[in-house]
Amino acid sequence: MKKKFYIETYGCQMNFADTEIVNSILLDDGMTAVQDAESADVILVNTCSIRENAETKVWNRLKEFRTLKKNKEDLTVGVLGCMAERIKDRIIEEEHLVDIVVGPDAYRDIPRLLTEVDDGRKAVNVLLSLEETYADIAPVRTTGNGVTAFVSIMRGCDNMCSFCVVPFTRGRERSRPMESILREVRQLSEEGYKEITLLGQNVNSYKDGENTFTRLMDESSKINPEIRFRFSSPHPKDFPDDLLHLIAERPNLCNYIHIPAQAGSDTMLERMRRPYTREQYFTLINKMKTIIPGVSLSTDIIAGFCGETEEEHEATMSLMKAVEYDLAYMFAYSERERTLAHRKFEDDVPEAIKKRRLTEIINQQMDIQKRRNKEEIGKRHLVLVEGTSKRSEEQVNGRTDTNKMVVFDRKDFQQGDYVEVEITDSTSATLIATPIRKTTITEYYGAAIEA
Ligand code: 5AD
Ligand code: SF4
Repeated sequence: MKKKFYIETYGCQMNFADTEIVNSILLDDGMTAVQDAESADVILVNTCSIRENAETKVWNRLKEFRTLKKNKEDLTVGVLGCMAERIKDRIIEEEHLVDIVVGPDAYRDIPRLLTEVDDGRKAVNVLLSLEETYADIAPVRTTGNGVTAFVSIMRGCDNMCSFCVVPFTRGRERSRPMESILREVRQLSEEGYKEITLLGQNVNSYKDGENTFTRLMDESSKINPEIRFRFSSPHPKDFPDDLLHLIAERPNLCNYIHIPAQAGSDTMLERMRRPYTREQYFTLINKMKTIIPGVSLSTDIIAGFCGETEEEHEATMSLMKAVEYDLAYMFAYSERERTLAHRKFEDDVPEAIKKRRLTEIINQQMDIQKRRNKEEIGKRHLVLVEGTSKRSEEQVNGRTDTNKMVVFDRKDFQQGDYVEVEITDSTSATLIATPIRKTTITEYYGAAIEA
């Protein structure tokens, strides 16, 4: 009988993309996918280690699965992803929670590991690779909306920011061959996808021979002018100018850039091993705003990193105020073993102060977003319809080119339609709109892409 598998995914977009690769490997092996843990023979949890609370969530979930296992003896439970690298011994030996542990570069080995489990052994493969990019595996998207897709273009990270565990859990940086990425984009185009986000831990260092990230964006966006493209995440230290010009010129490259700042003072950036200064960051932001008028920016910020003074915290606040991000992902620092910060610095900002600073950062950002979203009222945008609004069956939701969530009346609009809308109301997180007409990228921006 075919075994049924269920995968639960935590963490970043890269993990969700990895789950689609694992889907493909398991389906090829003759297993079938199910969408609930209860009916599965094999439960896999694709995990994240970036902050402690991400790991706590997974531990709790694994304990729930252990309860399921009590009533179902031959149920196999496995841990995939970043936590696998970090805590393989604890997972298997101390906790007896899981049967298999598979790191991010070992997914091809899952079918073999499952047979080991069938033979009564615990199975582990957490080897990291210098080459694996899963370039030949066509991801299987079993849970998406059929409209937006992620495509992984590289793996690992060589940056070694001092707070970050990713270089240890996902290994060295390597780029997937451009031809294999373009093949996947063509496939998604044939399947009717309308938005693709190219993913990597550090996309500006994408390199395949002579092919740079800008070239990759150029080639990808020419495949189908009615698919729009985003990317995540670039590093401020070496953001290429030619990419800004390409975004400005090309209608289907979204006017939205996620550009993680992490902190606002030179001293903090130095301790974080982020090789740019506050001034250089501002110069980059100004260039983005000048070359791409109306560009929407988002960022990642860490509050309460090792040794953070009140002055340094204020510098982060003032940087965020000056840039006026449309969106920010804001975190309290969480110490991770093996990182440079863990080895060299002390996690010495008291929890209460970390929390207070984070709250200040979030509150300021919410005010900025509220104000910026209010400025959208009366403006027109092109929205890609993603699905039904959470609040009402009568309404659909989707995002603007600038990545803002918009809700409007369903009328006859379908998932995957591009709709011109006029913004009528706003909150800090959402825009409310009146739909004007169904249209296309080419028509709306009134510019053809040279073949
Ligand atoms: N603590 C808090 N936030 C972190 N991030 C990475 N490592 C940590 C950590 N140890 C944040 C960074 C990064 C985002 C993906 O997660 O802001 O850009
Ligand atoms: Fe972590 Fe820095 Fe690499 Fe991002 S760029 S994954 S924050 S080490």
